[in-house]
Amino acid sequence: MDLTGAAVQLADLVALDQDGLRCPAEAYERMRERGVHYAPEVDAYVVSRHADVVAVLRDGERFSSANTVGNPPVRPQDDDTGLRPLLLLSDDPLHARRRSIVNRVFTPARVAAWEPQISEVCARLVDGLRGRTDIDLVRDLAALLPIRVISLVLGVPQRDVDRFRAWSEEITSSLGGHSGDAARRERVQNEFTGYIGTLLDERDGMPGEDVLSLIGEAERQGELSRRECVRFVIELLIAGNITTTHHLASSMALLGRVPGLFERLRREPDLIGRFIEESLRLEAPIQCFYRLVTVDGLVGGVEVPAGSRLLVFYGSANRDPQVWEQCPHLVLDRRNGSAHLAFGKGAHACIGASLARLESRVVLQALLERIESVELLLSHEQQPYLPSFVNHGPISLPARLVFLDMTVGSPRVP
Ligand code: HEM
Repeated sequence: MDLTGAAVQLADLVALDQDGLRCPAEAYERMRERGVHYAPEVDAYVVSRHADVVAVLRDGERFSSANTVGNPPVRPQDDDTGLRPLLLLSDDPLHARRRSIVNRVFTPARVAAWEPQISEVCARLVDGLRGRTDIDLVRDLAALLPIRVISLVLGVPQRDVDRFRAWSEEITSSLGGHSGDAARRERVQNEFTGYIGTLLDERDGMPGEDVLSLIGEAERQGELSRRECVRFVIELLIAGNITTTHHLASSMALLGRVPGLFERLRREPDLIGRFIEESLRLEAPIQCFYRLVTVDGLVGGVEVPAGSRLLVFYGSANRDPQVWEQCPHLVLDRRNGSAHLAFGKGAHACIGASLARLESRVVLQALLERIESVELLLSHEQQPYLPSFVNHGPISLPARLVFLDMTVGSPRVP
């Protein structure tokens, strides 16, 4: 199936044009044709070819992460707000020291140990759709799983997960600038900080292997302040949540949209892993991030002065025909299927990649084991996408599900 988009340009993406955001492939093709170039609409040099993206991501000395998420510009006093991500925006050697505090929780072997609990959560969520008459696969599945999983990994007590989720939503929306109520924002942040403080204090003298225990230990060793501990938790919450929700949503959209895919994966479940990589490649949940140039020099053969911003497109690198045969197509037997850049590359490559892959596999298995067919009720062209050219994914997927035991979960017919 050809998943190429309609003719759009970078300016359309920046203007948050829905057609462009849904399928930015054409804009990326134009960007790659031009190579590295300055784009006034983003006030940055655009880096879009696979080889150039890899070279930039691997060179943390020349290309700083200080403004990875773009505006607002980072000021020293922002460090004190309790919101600035601790890993994402720091450079080595500080970045490497901070990352080593939690690294061991996210190794593939450690993550594999979470599978039974994650499977249980997935089974409960999918079974909860049985007989429902108003299913939205984003609201009722893709948005619910990641927060439960990150709560587990952090070590948030089961009894608090719903409260934790409510805080997480409030904090995420206030960070995105959607919440205009400053007093409420401050109250939520204070409550959350107090709550995390209590959990950290509870762990004093009872070290465990969850993330909160590791962070608490680093605090006791004087490596992190209490405020930095809270920033760490908020970073993991947000980084692990929105991205994974978008990835699950995009994967379910592909399942409903690519003819025969659902049936093929049910017949050959060994292909689920390959499907996940193709979904990540074609629908990268983070399409691009910024880097800050620290010294004058060449980027992709083009002179770029120190102080400039680069906008680095993982999503375009993932569709570069120099690397991928039949690149607009979902191909389940690629030799280089996991070489995509959806999780980045180099020192800042996603710490949660194994966890995200596990969540994705387990939820797909839960669906394939229980469901006969998925019918999406909106065509691809009708699906609303998140209004962002950085984060990418459908925000609503109304669907009709037929369970294998023939229970139907579908919207109520008006
Ligand atoms: C499909 C889901 C996910 C995608 C597509 C994704 C994507 C990414 C990307 C592209 C980066 C690199 C940023 C850069 O180049 O500067 C990154 C970093 C990061 N991710 Fe993920 N991520 C996902 C899931 C997760 C999960 C589940 C967690 C945590 C539990 C997580 C935590 C982080 C953190 C903390 C960083 C910063 C790492 C650093 O700067 O050293 N992510 N992610």
